[in-house]
Amino acid sequence: MGVHMRRPIIAGNWKMYKDTGQTRAFFETFLPLIKGPKNCEVVICPPFVNLQIAADLTASTSVHIGGQNLFWAKEGAYTGEISGEMLKAAGCGWVLIAHSERRQYFGETDETANRKIVAALDAGLTPIVCVGEVLKERESGQTNLVLDKQFTGGIAPLNSEQFAKIVIAYEPVWAIGTGKTATPQIAADAHATIRTLVRKHYGNDAAENCRILYGGSVKPDNVRELMSQHDIDGALVGGASLEPVSFAAIVNYETSKLQ
Ligand code: 13P
Repeated sequence: MGVHMRRPIIAGNWKMYKDTGQTRAFFETFLPLIKGPKNCEVVICPPFVNLQIAADLTASTSVHIGGQNLFWAKEGAYTGEISGEMLKAAGCGWVLIAHSERRQYFGETDETANRKIVAALDAGLTPIVCVGEVLKERESGQTNLVLDKQFTGGIAPLNSEQFAKIVIAYEPVWAIGTGKTATPQIAADAHATIRTLVRKHYGNDAAENCRILYGGSVKPDNVRELMSQHDIDGALVGGASLEPVSFAAIVNYETSKLQ
């Protein structure tokens, strides 16, 4: 088994951007630009209120739709929350979990990440679980420690069967929305660290098969070099996923000209 067993994923995280009209306009321009066979899976994660419309607009295409968050109960008196079952019913197949902005602004922890992963799997969704260090942690040489802690607390309680169904995204917080991409070497090192953690907890096959995405200022002009790193299996794209031409260029990284 080698790197080609891992089908690349290019995922867009729209964060809190785009109303319904803007969502329609995006797909109108984007979908024709990504026609044709490609090796990667494409996932787009719009805000909750536009999931159904995004799912409808992409129903006859290979584009997958994902939520940006979920709550772990199936239903109940949890004002303001959305369950995995609801995401599924709205046409989602995927969901982001424990994005650094959820950790930073909404009090999410490794423990809540784990509960959400289990809920997503129970609902039949593919979770993209986010990990990554903040600048202070990197500067003080704690990156591997932080990744170990996030993995051990958030992911390692999963059994092997559950683990096989998740995707991990390494997003160094200092590279998010800052235009400061991690160098391919920095990203590759962190991905190798995460893959070693997978090997330690779940064995060799799991480590070979686990897809680890990089996120943090991925753009059309740096995606190809990042994707050429052995342990980088895809990208989780924020800002550049909002603009249909630039996100299409990222999706078409294998064939499009460098911009
Ligand atoms: P940017 O691509 O805007 O840096 O955002 C990355 C991110 O947080 C994706 O989840």
